[in-house]
Amino acid sequence: MIPTLSWRNNSVVLLDQQALPVEERVLVCTRYQEVLTAIKDLTVRGAPAIGVAAAMGIALGSLSLPADSPEGFRKGFDALCDQFAAARPTAKNLFWAIERMKGCFAGAMADAMTGETEKVRQALVDEALRMAEEDVAINRRIGRNGQILIPDGARILTHCNAGALATAGYGTALGVIRAARDAGKTIQVFADETRPVLQGARLTAWELQQENIPVTLITDNMAGFLMKQGLVDCVLVGADRIAANGDTANKIGTYSLAVLADAHSIPFYVAAPLSTIDRQLSSGADIPIEERPDEEVLAIRGVRIAPVGVGVYNPAFDVTPGGYIEAIISEAGVARFPYESSLEKLFLEPS
Ligand code: MRU
Repeated sequence: MIPTLSWRNNSVVLLDQQALPVEERVLVCTRYQEVLTAIKDLTVRGAPAIGVAAAMGIALGSLSLPADSPEGFRKGFDALCDQFAAARPTAKNLFWAIERMKGCFAGAMADAMTGETEKVRQALVDEALRMAEEDVAINRRIGRNGQILIPDGARILTHCNAGALATAGYGTALGVIRAARDAGKTIQVFADETRPVLQGARLTAWELQQENIPVTLITDNMAGFLMKQGLVDCVLVGADRIAANGDTANKIGTYSLAVLADAHSIPFYVAAPLSTIDRQLSSGADIPIEERPDEEVLAIRGVRIAPVGVGVYNPAFDVTPGGYIEAIISEAGVARFPYESSLEKLFLEPS
């Protein structure tokens, strides 16, 4: 399995996704600040991976928190969580993971006797590792639920990277593709390069090659032409945050694909764990959209492509209205429009 992130000897080991595919190297984080920076600079990225990395980062930070008093320890822990919560705004999984670490901390503090801070620190490490393990199992269930929707011989268009690299392993959208292949289906993938930082060209193409799943790289502006020629049977993407009505934030460009898919009567699927669903938000209008540095647009891999002084707008995500989405595939089952009721039902299913 692709080693996206792991915990080793009180450090967080991240496969460096900035270096891929040119170089396969890891970043060993011995301080929580390094994990924080790695989330911000996309060394580790993808909604579920960001959540698990933050959980591990919080566990790592807790190891060196002063614990002279329970109050001081608690304050230090809260400050740690606040720093991770400020890392990236859009992926719900980040906030979900932080809440879970807070719950673990509260429980462990209540159980521990005065001075037993080591037990609390260990509980946080155990919880982060549990989340990583659970994430892989969840993705496998998403894969099983989703592959049923994929016909043999399907030519699937995907955007960004919603694979093992974007999770603790196996992937969401690419997990569905893995599961379809493992069910004996012949699958072909078209990967959008995904400007500005090329998660499709660098990461999805690399990941699918590792798995021997046939992949053809296209630039983002080619999707409509492929659809028009009848070369795409479905679009399958991941998600960063899904509102209660099914509106879905995902990598910038996803919305355009959904509109194109609709115009060509091609099903558009979203694969995501329940931890991506934000039941507090009634629609996608309230999803916070991250804006990233101008340099990502002004340059490609450090090579400047635009004139000095040009204005830049660089939103990292867009929101696809639920009405464009044929189905949302989760570990608890498949939801369909209208999503208010079908998504809510997923939370009632034993998963
Ligand atoms: O900016 P990124 O690379 O973190 O954006 C990632 C995406 O948009 C993914 O499609 C999404 O997080 C789903 S990952 C399973």
